[in-house]
Amino acid sequence: MRNLVILVSGTGSLLQALIDDAARGKVFQISCVISDNANCAALQRARAAGIEAIDIPTLNITKDQWQQTLRDTVLAKQPDLVVSAGFMRIIKSDLFEVVPTINAHPSLLPLFPGANAVADALAAGVEKTGASIHYVDHGVDSGKLISQREVPILAGDSIAVLHERIKQVERDQLVEVVVKLCQQSDLWAGIANG
Ligand code: GRF
Repeated sequence: MRNLVILVSGTGSLLQALIDDAARGKVFQISCVISDNANCAALQRARAAGIEAIDIPTLNITKDQWQQTLRDTVLAKQPDLVVSAGFMRIIKSDLFEVVPTINAHPSLLPLFPGANAVADALAAGVEKTGASIHYVDHGVDSGKLISQREVPILAGDSIAVLHERIKQVERDQLVEVVVKLCQQSDLWAGIANG
């Protein structure tokens, strides 16, 4: 059984998909969920599932101290895999070099990296966007790709409507990627046919 730590900031619907699959399967368990946002719904989802939920406050702490605390808190759980699922901070320690760390991003990277990927795709007038899962590296949504799925942009789409359509794809995609990675001996190796 693989041990996962999940990083979150928002509503946690991707986290919920992982929680639900962990309860069904025997491939991974979530040892804790960590957030920069004490009030986020994602932490409540973790608590509701009986999973340890930790928030690391950003007030009264330097950015470097916060990054070090994040690193130490994650590594104390000895995870096999770290999943950034709607986590809105850039990891600026060597965490992703010590433990394989993956991130879900709502665009077809390298198009539209950053925090406004859905709005940026709409503004660009492209016909399709999508969902990417990649290893975290030093950059912003720039690490090695593991999986990509396309999502059409439809006439009249708002940011919220399009993002929800993307997230429907992301939930299945993330569970599939996590299960496949966890079944491998080498979690740094990506997956076939992502
Ligand atoms: C997803 O679109 C993910 O790609 C992005 O943040 C969103 C998380 O949604 N990084 P939720 O909080 O899991 O509902």
